Amino acid sequence: MIIFKEPASLATFLNEKRRLQKSLGFVPTMGALHAGHLLLINESRAGNDLVVASIFVNPTQFNDAKDFQKYPKTIEKDVYALEKAGCDGLLLPDVEGMYPDGTGNGQVYDLGSLETKLEGFYRPGHFQGVCRVVHRLLDIVQPDRIYLGQKDFQQCMVIKRLISIIGSEAKVVVCPTLRDADGLAMSSRNMRLNPDQRLTATGIYEALDEVRQNQHTKQVQELEASAVSSLTARGFRVDYVKIVDASNLEPVAQISSGKKMVALAAAYLDDIRLIDNIFLN
Ligand code: PAJ
Repeated sequence: MIIFKEPASLATFLNEKRRLQKSLGFVPTMGALHAGHLLLINESRAGNDLVVASIFVNPTQFNDAKDFQKYPKTIEKDVYALEKAGCDGLLLPDVEGMYPDGTGNGQVYDLGSLETKLEGFYRPGHFQGVCRVVHRLLDIVQPDRIYLGQKDFQQCMVIKRLISIIGSEAKVVVCPTLRDADGLAMSSRNMRLNPDQRLTATGIYEALDEVRQNQHTKQVQELEASAVSSLTARGFRVDYVKIVDASNLEPVAQISSGKKMVALAAAYLDDIRLIDNIFLN
């Protein structure tokens, strides 16, 4: 695996590969890699001649400065894991390399209601930051396919919209959420949980799974309310549990088999924010 610290040198390397008609899969990450990230690498490996990953803890997408400071960093382990997974290139830039004009004002992306719903509402500015960095990454890498995790359900929708706004040719491949044995969705932030919190954290999956199990016998509001109270009883501070139309995140009045629906949750244990989602029907 070749490690590129300079975006320009990765771009030059990839231009040569493109001349050889090599297809290119791209996996953007913020590092502190776990098996969920490696699943994306494997999918990309299976579908393309070349795989490039990036590790960059993007300051512009953190709406909470403490969350940014405390974001886990395990770079040596990450490099080893990527190498072992058969990744060909790793972009490991610094802030100046990614934001040569600074992290201040940048392009504003029209994300419509994606920006005011759920994660957009609770993390103002977050998706603009995601778009800024992914736009820059797509310009540098120009992949045929970009691999994303369903774990960040709304982010997948935002990045699809970004791709249409900027006219990128990249196809989005969404991969399923990889979970620990007890159901907890793998996440870099899980590394910050103490042993007690780690045990409690599975409650977020259990609450969503209960929604799924009771979807045919209870009303939407009842399902949402009982998930919130079970999380609160376990010590979570809940931002939301919502059942929405999976195509546009609009609230639904009732669960129907005609539409694909998804239950999404975001909740804190101490200052650690966890998110998860499960498809219904
Ligand atoms: P990060 O949280 O590192 O996630 C990188 C990719 O891994 C995302 O597409 C995410 O959805 C996926 N992922 C995370 N946990 C997963 C799991 N348990 N199973 C499967 N896939 C999982 O998401 C970001 O970074 C950033 O916002 C980024 C897109 C890199 C822009 O900075």
